[in-house]
Amino acid sequence: MAAVVLKDVTKRFGAVSVIEGLDLEIRDREFMVLVGPSGCGKSTALRMVAGLEEVTGGTISIGERVVNDVPPKDRDISMVFQSYALYPHMTVRQNLEFGLKIRKTPAAETARLIGEAAQILGIEPLLERKPKELSGGQRQRVALGRAIVRKPAVFLFDEPLSNLDAKLRVQMRAEIKKLQARLQVTAIYVTHDQVEAMTMGHRIAILHAGKLQQVGTPLEVYERPANLFVAAFIGTPPMNLMEATLDAGAASIQGAGLTLPVPAGLRAALAGRGGARVVAGLRPENVVPPGREPRGESVEVAVTIEIAEPLGDEVVVHAKAGEVGLVFKQDPHREAAVGSTVPVRVELDALHLFDAGSQLRLGA
Ligand SMILES: Nc1ncnc2c1ncn2[C@@H]1O[C@H](COP(=O)(O)OP(=O)(O)O)[C@@H](O)[C@H]1O
Ligand SMILES: [Mg+2]
Repeated sequence: MAAVVLKDVTKRFGAVSVIEGLDLEIRDREFMVLVGPSGCGKSTALRMVAGLEEVTGGTISIGERVVNDVPPKDRDISMVFQSYALYPHMTVRQNLEFGLKIRKTPAAETARLIGEAAQILGIEPLLERKPKELSGGQRQRVALGRAIVRKPAVFLFDEPLSNLDAKLRVQMRAEIKKLQARLQVTAIYVTHDQVEAMTMGHRIAILHAGKLQQVGTPLEVYERPANLFVAAFIGTPPMNLMEATLDAGAASIQGAGLTLPVPAGLRAALAGRGGARVVAGLRPENVVPPGREPRGESVEVAVTIEIAEPLGDEVVVHAKAGEVGLVFKQDPHREAAVGSTVPVRVELDALHLFDAGSQLRLGA
């Protein structure tokens, strides 16, 4: 049982700054996902928590203890990597035993812990096999097993599912989530995949170019992205974005061929900012095609359909309003003829506005 607290953590490799002023608190028994594009510093941050990388500035605490100078083996953590890092010449059982042996765990206790982990992960029939006799999913389960037999206070995962095919990834995603809930262990999970982050995390922390962008529950960051980066990064299909200018009276925003009124909820925040450059964001589900009722205040916009992507349960439609691209989702049994013009309704209460300069969210 332990919280993990990063206070003003920085990391430099020589002159190159990789993490800047990272403040992040992972609560006891929380599943925190650290997400961001490749190269943003996720692994570096996790490796600093693990003790595999030195901290340049700031402090990292696990439980009550600052661990900056504590070696990895004394931090009470277990880490699972993308490359399963199993010993190829050892059986599954020996792989699971390895960490316990180093800690001089008594034989009976070792057998009990391995039996328990194998049962939880459904790998009992595999215990006498070598890693090369296992599928990718089975190997990843063994890697998880090796992490859980030690009963650490904190689990660290670095893209553990990236080597698996799409279907197995979805299955393992659910298994890891269940495992964390069952074991009630604090977890920090690193991924570049925003869907993985949204589906697995109690909270998610979005990192970009070594800087923390936002921390919140999946729904909080989805509904109230703090800046343009988060708005564009979280959600599939991604949020529609339109560069626009606020009119002199701050009553409407004008983009290339599309003008929208400023919704009631944002008027106070925008008062006096007439003429400002903004970026407007609208999620696909807030562009409502004919046949569905919009929620709250809405305006009609005529759009021309450019592409329709059938997914079975819905069709993702790419359309244009003037020069502005709008993606929305439609019932598959409604026609979406390419080249046709249809009236959609834009839900104004769901409009996000960002300052074009600072890229920060405008309004509450
Ligand atoms: N040992 C190192 N020496 C120099 N630069 C490094 C080292 N490790 C990582 N980096 C750089 O730090 C940045 C972040 O890397 P990393 O934490 O691996 O990103 P992520 O896991 O988000 O893809 C990258 O630009 C990478 O090149
Ligand atoms: Mg990485």
